[in-house]
Amino acid sequence: MDDRELLRTVPIFAELSDDDTAALARLTSRRRYPKDTVVFFENEEGDSLFVIVEGRIKVTILGDDGREIILSVLGPGDFFGEMALLDNEPRSATAIAVEESELLALNRADFQGVVSEKASITTALIKVLTQRLRRANHQISTLALLDVYGRVARVILDMAREEGKRLKDGRIAFRRATHQEIANRIGTTRETVTRMLKDLERQGLIHIEGREIIVQPDFEKSFD
Ligand code: CMP
Repeated sequence: MDDRELLRTVPIFAELSDDDTAALARLTSRRRYPKDTVVFFENEEGDSLFVIVEGRIKVTILGDDGREIILSVLGPGDFFGEMALLDNEPRSATAIAVEESELLALNRADFQGVVSEKASITTALIKVLTQRLRRANHQISTLALLDVYGRVARVILDMAREEGKRLKDGRIAFRRATHQEIANRIGTTRETVTRMLKDLERQGLIHIEGREIIVQPDFEKSFD
């Protein structure tokens, strides 16, 4: 996919005319990040917005003790790094490529230029930021109100719905994240996640098949 075609698939740029998309594509540059490399660290000064061409980017906050809480894992067509450009504060989180990833980078001045010239971008940007706030509220309520068993169940359901594909029989299959990744989404340990997943499997609510987790319809009923 060339940069123009790619930009058309990004919701915040979807309403641009062909000419504006071509002009925007000329302002971006492609960058590759091998698996496990850092795109930027929390608290750094931010100078670019990034759009994911391929791969997956983890948005995370690292504690002084080495623990991390994963705020989100973003994929193709998603953007990140807009906050530091919009409020002129440092980066609010660290961004790490969890797979080899290709990104389009747009520098601060060019991003601010398109946002101030195109009302459609501002409207679409607000929509995405609102969705992220809803998701963050959901995450806060999960962390604050559920016990660890409920949190594991909730994050499995969220990942299944966000990333999975629904099978004809109503089950949902999704990529099996590492137990450490699941733990880091909900502030618990890898061992706890392993124990809870085994328990859910024993109850017949999920099945682990190779690189996928399959969620049964009963699981959705129990934890929705
Ligand atoms: P910025 O603060 O520039 O750098 C970190 C980026 O992570 C931030 O911009 C957003 O693009 C992204 N980000 C921060 N918090 C969240 C969140 N809760 N959900 C999804 N993305 C986020």
